[in-house]
Amino acid sequence: MLDDMLDYVEDIRARPVWQPIPDDIRLSVREPLPRAPAELATVYDQFKHAILPYTTGNAHPGFMGWVHGGGNPVGMLAEMLAAGLNANLGGRDHMPIEVERQIVRWMRDLFGFPDTASGLFVTGTSMANLLAVLVARTDALGIAVRSEGIAAAPERLVAYVSAAAHGCIAQAMDLSGLGTAALRIVPTNHRHQIDLAALEDAIADDRRQGLTPFLLIGSAGTVDIGAIDDLAGLAGIARRERLWFHIDGAFGALAMLAPELAPRLAGIASADSIALDFHKWAQVPYDAGFLLVRNGTRHRETFASPAAYLRREARGLAAGSPWPCEFGPDLSRGFRALKTWFTLKVHGTDAIGAVISRTCALARELEAAVLARPELELLAPVQLNIVCFRYRGSDPDRLNAKIVADLHESGIVAPSTTLLDRGLAIRAAIVNHRTERRDIEALVDAVMALGRAETARRAA
Ligand SMILES: Cc1ncc(COP(=O)(O)O)c(C=O)c1O
Repeated sequence: MLDDMLDYVEDIRARPVWQPIPDDIRLSVREPLPRAPAELATVYDQFKHAILPYTTGNAHPGFMGWVHGGGNPVGMLAEMLAAGLNANLGGRDHMPIEVERQIVRWMRDLFGFPDTASGLFVTGTSMANLLAVLVARTDALGIAVRSEGIAAAPERLVAYVSAAAHGCIAQAMDLSGLGTAALRIVPTNHRHQIDLAALEDAIADDRRQGLTPFLLIGSAGTVDIGAIDDLAGLAGIARRERLWFHIDGAFGALAMLAPELAPRLAGIASADSIALDFHKWAQVPYDAGFLLVRNGTRHRETFASPAAYLRREARGLAAGSPWPCEFGPDLSRGFRALKTWFTLKVHGTDAIGAVISRTCALARELEAAVLARPELELLAPVQLNIVCFRYRGSDPDRLNAKIVADLHESGIVAPSTTLLDRGLAIRAAIVNHRTERRDIEALVDAVMALGRAETARRAA
């Protein structure tokens, strides 16, 4: 299995990025609960036949959809070791937790957070953003909110985020009980950054109405086009208005590792909390989301839930307080830290920074290729590693949606789509460390060929 998997990764370029799942394959896993044992080799054959060829494809250099990391073999091996150890990182006194704590220390250093800051691995940034909203809520209302609920609080809390923010922020407001109506969606400027003047107006408006602004969320890399909000400007407003300043840095926060990009994150060190994913630009295999919180005490107060059966001791296996389960809702937690630790140590963060820089350079090459072709149209400024463009023509939304579906089925490249002001865009997010210039060229060539063919078909 190990040899096969290493070969799979090594030879990934020879495979289609993605391919449609034939009906018989889809049905082949629909089996009754297997009460009797089966040979490992038989099940492995089924894996090779029915699962391996039909995955998302984000390990492939032609994958450019959404924001998916490519993974890496070192992380894969570490994942195998972690599964062998079968460690539970909810708590207790063992070295796997020390590895997670070391990554917390590294992230504190990277983002200029104090020694008292806390951190936690979670599934992904959607979860990290939710936890951050909950910590900010506790900060605003005090820990009584945990027993009394937000309905008992006299304050009506409101939060602020830009129109370009990821949907999981609104979902976090929903899940936290604060409600999406308590989230103010602030307009963006022409660079898709939050409009600071509009933000200040919205805060003033809410205060006039007797509401309590409590949370400001900035984006370090918006999902649609990779815009970075003016984080220093946001930090200043958060300080003046006494708001919790959270940053959704799902992929963009780790641009701190690329020396020429790090200055664009100026202000990130002033955040109260940062959410990020190691499984995106850092290429750690899924999943490896992370939350960093400046005020570790407030973080712990938000989630710690003592129980007789979780008693801490000064020595023995039940020592090692505080336990990670005091910083989030999960009591059972896998060893996500190990694949992250191995990846960062074996490759070195300079190499990861170089990948981040290279993907941005490839995005600029794609931008230039789009601008050089009259049939293509750039739909948003390229700021990091994401390029939004389309093939010109009548009914462009339908035309470009068709081109993207055809690209997927071609197996050559897999961008995704998004809806911008001017309509549906072909969205190429270059995240994978395996992506090269030839993949960008393949994307452009394939879009041109499909666009021309569709235009000719329509004319006929
Ligand atoms: C800016 C931003 N925020 C949040 C998320 C959600 O992250 P995850 O999918 O790890 O939950 C993404 C995912 O692409 C993102 O780009």
